[in-house]
Amino acid sequence: MTANSLTIRDNRNGKEVELPIIDGTMGPGVVDITNFYKEFGLFTLDPGFRSTASCNSKITFIDGDKGILLYRGYPIDQLAEQSSHLEVCYLLLNGELPNKKQFEEFSHTVTHHTMLHEQMAFLFRGYRRDAHPMAIMVGVVGALSAFYHDSLDLRNPRHREVSAFRLIAKMPTIAAFSYKYSVGQPFVYPCNRLGYSENLLHMLFSVPCDNYVVSPVLAKALDQVLILHADHEQNASTSTVRLAGSSQANPFAAASAGIGALWGPAHGGANEAVLKMLHEIGDEDHIGDYIKRAKDPHDPFRLMGFGHRVYKNYDPRARILRKAAYEVLGELGRGDDPLFRVALKLEKIALEDDYFVSKKLYPNVDFYSGLILSAMGIPTNMFTVIFSVARTVGWITQWKEMISEEGQAISRPRQLYTGEVHRDYVPIYQRK
Ligand code: CMC
Repeated sequence: MTANSLTIRDNRNGKEVELPIIDGTMGPGVVDITNFYKEFGLFTLDPGFRSTASCNSKITFIDGDKGILLYRGYPIDQLAEQSSHLEVCYLLLNGELPNKKQFEEFSHTVTHHTMLHEQMAFLFRGYRRDAHPMAIMVGVVGALSAFYHDSLDLRNPRHREVSAFRLIAKMPTIAAFSYKYSVGQPFVYPCNRLGYSENLLHMLFSVPCDNYVVSPVLAKALDQVLILHADHEQNASTSTVRLAGSSQANPFAAASAGIGALWGPAHGGANEAVLKMLHEIGDEDHIGDYIKRAKDPHDPFRLMGFGHRVYKNYDPRARILRKAAYEVLGELGRGDDPLFRVALKLEKIALEDDYFVSKKLYPNVDFYSGLILSAMGIPTNMFTVIFSVARTVGWITQWKEMISEEGQAISRPRQLYTGEVHRDYVPIYQRK
């Protein structure tokens, strides 16, 4: 028996098998169960992946108990304070921070891929004006594969790189177009002299008849929002991208699948749900009723923006955005915003309440991101779209890591079958 192993005994027949334990560089190790079925004739069951690692990865590390988040080893607070989203994109994709020349080349490449094929504008016009922008995103991002099929040879590293550039560069344009379409304004084309987040604000808020000047404070805050959402290891949407991509589907199709998974209120849709909830609460005096509802096991209501599958401590991203919210609201002269006041009071009450304390339910990133985006003038139904712009680099980096792995195979989970056993077909005229 070796020290780094786990012995499993099958009580049906006394068979004992040693399973290797593999340690990573940080965090819990894993028990390698690749041969579990071969040894025992059993599958393992872990719905919701509460104890199951689905891959090896060198990209992002989370210690949920300590509230630590690292991209390629760098703490999220250092990146949010000192870096830019584009530099973080380079770091995630390449594993190292760029030198000056590398960063200039990377920025130039991303900036010069921001335009969409002009034919794509017609795709937007096929949607109803009141379509949810996430519905448009799912369709238009998937449709990129119809326009950029010259770089879809997955075995070719250069093709994979070009697809990554295209996705990172074009997502803000698609996001802004879906917003402009929903409000009936003309599409605003990307502007190469602006930075990544400035350009996104420009495409969202410029109109041909006026001169829109991007506020540096708002651009910095949006950049922070993007950095904080850029990757989060094997979350639902990233796992979806990996799973879709494991069948050799092209990266645009895989990203579109990721957008679908992100949309749900338990994942990226929570930022939209937080703002709806804050509006519904409306006044500090009503907070008690909502706390009571959240604690009632018979009421499906949950305090949106609270709790996380991995963080059992204050989400480090929420801490940074809490500060950013103060700055943005201050810049806009809305430090006394009633919704912000409700949010702060709600957070305080929940953090002192036994129910939330004992279940380790702390504010997550979505609790504050919606307040910041809303103060910038971004409508609620665009929040998850902004999240998808940010998470694109995470998706494509994780996809590249997966597809480049030696021996990469299609992901195909097993199941515990609990349905009917074999039965014979009965013609309809003989059925009761
Ligand atoms: N309000 C009230 N109770 C809650 C909440 C909440 N927000 N979150 C979890 N609980 C309770 C839950 O009822 C359960 O109680 P019990 O043990 O008595 O059955 C316990 O805490 C554990 O909850 P869980 O659903 O088993 O935990 P999970 O790890 O499966 O779920 C979660 C994590 C994020 C889906 C959940 O906390 C939640 O629904 N939060 C609200 C939605 C939200 O803010 N989502 C954004 C997540 S962060 C952004 C991202 O990464 O996508």
